[in-house]
Amino acid sequence: MLEVKDLNTFYGKSHILQGVNLDVGEGEIVCLLGRNGVGKSTTLKSIMGLVTPSRGTVTFEGKQIQKMRPDVIARMRISYIPEDRRIFSRLSVKENLLIGTSNAPDMTKARKEEMLEKAYMYFPILKEKESQGGGYLSGGQQQMLAIARGLMCDPKLVLLDEPFEGLAPVIIWELIDIIKKLCETEKMTLLLVEQKAALALKMSDRGYVLEKGLVKCEGTCQFLSESEEVRERCGL
Ligand SMILES: Nc1ncnc2c1ncn2[C@@H]1O[C@H](COP(=O)(O)OP(=O)(O)OP(=O)(O)O)[C@@H](O)[C@H]1O
Ligand SMILES: [Mg+2]
Repeated sequence: MLEVKDLNTFYGKSHILQGVNLDVGEGEIVCLLGRNGVGKSTTLKSIMGLVTPSRGTVTFEGKQIQKMRPDVIARMRISYIPEDRRIFSRLSVKENLLIGTSNAPDMTKARKEEMLEKAYMYFPILKEKESQGGGYLSGGQQQMLAIARGLMCDPKLVLLDEPFEGLAPVIIWELIDIIKKLCETEKMTLLLVEQKAALALKMSDRGYVLEKGLVKCEGTCQFLSESEEVRERCGL
């Protein structure tokens, strides 16, 4: 479904991605691991068109998208959920969710309602807090809102950046359950970026480990969990 080949990205003169190769098959959960600053977020941003790669290709469902604008890429039903969550604190939970449909301009009002109901089904707490300001939610609830908003455009592929950061373990496990259920039931494909490698490997099918802008290891979660090299590189 998604194929990234020889992806090179610069910020000014800094050569951040130095030839990243990875692929994600339809229905898979694939994690991209690695320590601070290795280029995980830059990889997602390069796929989404938020930064322009200087070399390499990003192919989604057979089409090359590496030169497309982020809004055009979003309309191909790829959803990017950034690490900083970007909840509008003065807008209500419901208004925040509806913003997620702006990338699906053809969606009818009835369909938006349907998507809203679906979001509330997976994240019942958001229904309870529907009229509250986004700024009044806890960290875990804000992350749920960020994910639910990212799903409002009915994406085929979700790029999810560090969803567990700053959350308590009990909330993380709740999120993992919901995300897994979403992938199974809604046939969603997920590329998950995480520093918490042990958790990401528990919920994924396969993974890649990034170091200094290059994929250093890849394989099944079992292989990666047992690899000494990965333990070292990800601090497992
Ligand atoms: N807008 C930017 N301008 C210049 N340098 C940047 C910019 N964004 C990121 N960088 C640098 O690029 C490198 C890779 O950043 P990136 O955000 O992709 O890392 P990351 O793997 O997501 O790290 P983290 O786990 O901390 O989120 C870092 O050295 C970072 O300082
Ligand atoms: Mg990052």
